[in-house]
Amino acid sequence: MTRTNITIGLFGFGVVGQGLHAVLERTPGLRARIGRIAVKDRSKSRPLPAELFTFDKNDLLDDPNLDVIVELIDNADDAYLIVKEALQKGKAVVSANKKMLAEHLPELIALQRTTGTPLLYEAAACASLPVIRNLEEYYDTGLLDSVEGIINGSTNYILTAMNRDGQPYAEALAKAQALGFAESNPALDVEGLDARNKLVLLLAHAFGLVAGPEKLLAVGIDRISPLAAAYAREQGLAIKLVAEARRLPEGGGIAAAVLPTLVASSHELANVHDEFNGLVTQSGFADRQFFLGRGAGAFPTASAVLSDLSALTYGYRYEYKKIQQNAHLTLAPDAAEVDVLVTFDDAYPPDEADFTQVHEQFRSARRGNYLTGTIGLGQLARAAWLRQPGVSVVRLAVPLRAAKTSANAQVIASKRVAAIQVD
Ligand code: HSE
Repeated sequence: MTRTNITIGLFGFGVVGQGLHAVLERTPGLRARIGRIAVKDRSKSRPLPAELFTFDKNDLLDDPNLDVIVELIDNADDAYLIVKEALQKGKAVVSANKKMLAEHLPELIALQRTTGTPLLYEAAACASLPVIRNLEEYYDTGLLDSVEGIINGSTNYILTAMNRDGQPYAEALAKAQALGFAESNPALDVEGLDARNKLVLLLAHAFGLVAGPEKLLAVGIDRISPLAAAYAREQGLAIKLVAEARRLPEGGGIAAAVLPTLVASSHELANVHDEFNGLVTQSGFADRQFFLGRGAGAFPTASAVLSDLSALTYGYRYEYKKIQQNAHLTLAPDAAEVDVLVTFDDAYPPDEADFTQVHEQFRSARRGNYLTGTIGLGQLARAAWLRQPGVSVVRLAVPLRAAKTSANAQVIASKRVAAIQVD
């Protein structure tokens, strides 16, 4: 598609759909207009003429006058069927549905290849930040070492409101919902699952590694205990929900996870507040680079959709070059380790045998219990205690790192378990 007048078939008219309508009105240079809108709920009153709306997806998918399908609906299963059919019918698609994309990425990549029809989704990761196209195009030389970032706006808004403004969790979450930042099911945000879906997209474009979301460890902010929050405060550190993907040295594969993380004030991510997202890339020669911008909300997300629409007008598509180039790359959670703070009730203590090293142990009937230690990323993901009631896991610093190798296996063999301090 290389024409400059485009007529859009829009699926969904919620927060982002309405945002797109508003930004298109203010962007005459793009020469794009919404031709038809498919919606689900027949009872809602809408601010545009009724004849613009339909309840039948085929009114859009079969309309030869519509050049591009923009898919902005909530239900990931319905979105998948719409996007698949649109591509099969040769209609270019722009989607913001990270859950749908993460769950079906291999098939959607294959479908783009067989149909020759593009699917763009800049809005699905970090809303207004141009991360997908940058990872795809700029960092295509194999020199990228890592991406680490705050890639969910709602949880960052909640953490900021709690830590900076002293708001209770429930109140901060309600505000994030009212402002249109949260998913319709906010569990996706607070359990780290939305960030995990976005990490799937970052992995594909940063490293050419296509992995299902279920392969990645995600711990959310819903389990951060008051003791973990107090620990962070006492150490002068910020708790942030950080997604990270890192190439391990010597061909060790990729380590990737979403974890609440204690971040030092000197780190770029410590200063990402409210619904903003931030992404730090580390690459050979360029060193560290930092993207910062609004990560949720109607206009920031619509801005990325707009950019994709513009890209379609000059024939842009993702080529997924790195998938071929890096075909040997795999996820290697057992080759990575992290330092963590685990807080827990007496009923469900973590199993010390899972740790490479326990650094510190503290028990208090008054304040609660914690331990700090080093644990393999794969071991942490498999640990039964991780999901038990009262257990809270927070990573102690940002980079994932390579686990100790057999060269210094003696350190592991004689692992030190710290004495228990009692308050
Ligand atoms: N719920 C998402 C977030 C919306 O808070 O980041 C933007 O993807």
